[in-house]
Amino acid sequence: MEQPIISLKNVSYAYPHATGDHRAALSDITLDIQEGDFIGLVGANGSGKSTLARMLNALLVPVEGEIRVDGMLTSDKANHDRIRETAGMVFQNPDSQIVATSVEDDIAFGLENLGLPVEEIERRIADVARRFDVADLLEREPHWLSGGQKQRVVLAGVVAIKPRILILDEPTSMLDPRSRRQFHSLVKDLWRGGVTVIYITQLMDELALADRMLALDAGRVVFDGKPLDIFSNDELLERISLEAPLAVRLARTLARRGCKLRPVPLTLGQLVEEICG
Ligand SMILES: Nc1ncnc2c1ncn2[C@@H]1O[C@H](COP(=O)(O)OP(=O)(O)O)[C@@H](O)[C@H]1O
Ligand SMILES: [Mg+2]
Repeated sequence: MEQPIISLKNVSYAYPHATGDHRAALSDITLDIQEGDFIGLVGANGSGKSTLARMLNALLVPVEGEIRVDGMLTSDKANHDRIRETAGMVFQNPDSQIVATSVEDDIAFGLENLGLPVEEIERRIADVARRFDVADLLEREPHWLSGGQKQRVVLAGVVAIKPRILILDEPTSMLDPRSRRQFHSLVKDLWRGGVTVIYITQLMDELALADRMLALDAGRVVFDGKPLDIFSNDELLERISLEAPLAVRLARTLARRGCKLRPVPLTLGQLVEEICG
């Protein structure tokens, strides 16, 4: 197999001032992620998802064990700039990531930090502005945009750097349903274009198409496998406070009434297809 794009070996982390039973935010995590995968990272509040996300672009480094991103050790500060160019991150709250007073300057910010020539910066801004539907907003003050627009500006700024990995930490949790769908579909397009996606969400419908699901519970990996396998495991879902996607729950209710759908649908589209042919 090719070298994994991300590799964790026996990674543990504890926040410096944490105390009590759950001192360790992450405990002994070993896993590899292959380039091009769409990974759903799930778990209850406080299970360690954001801590793991921050580790993957070297905002935090392991207390024990090691992480490599595209072969680069995250504990070596000399690698940090290149790791952050390789692994872009989008957080839950776009206001925490918007730094400039116009949308254009905000997208330009990361590109200027890369030291790119002005023409290349302009080309990249025009490209992401078109792809993420923010071309009409370039002169606007980010502060006054809607949540959905802000999150697209953040995504545009991150993608302009051309990262090979995107880490998204509950990126749609502050958006309305329409903006949520739009944002999610932009992420799917990026993934289809070859970007490795690590997607953290409480909304299981957003993960129906994931290649692989990782579930954390109290800082440990308690599931690593296919979406359908975690969504069929009631005991585990209950333990980590998750609910299977609507299509899976509907299919199971139908099955109890004698109407068995095979394969079990993960999306409403698949469910309708199987019922109506
Ligand atoms: N800055 C911090 N300082 C101390 N403890 C923290 C900090 N951030 C998170 N934690 C703790 O680390 C654990 C994992 O948190 P987090 O990674 O944010 O989980 P999740 O993103 O799954 O909700 C929790 O017990 C949380 O209280
Ligand atoms: Mg979190």
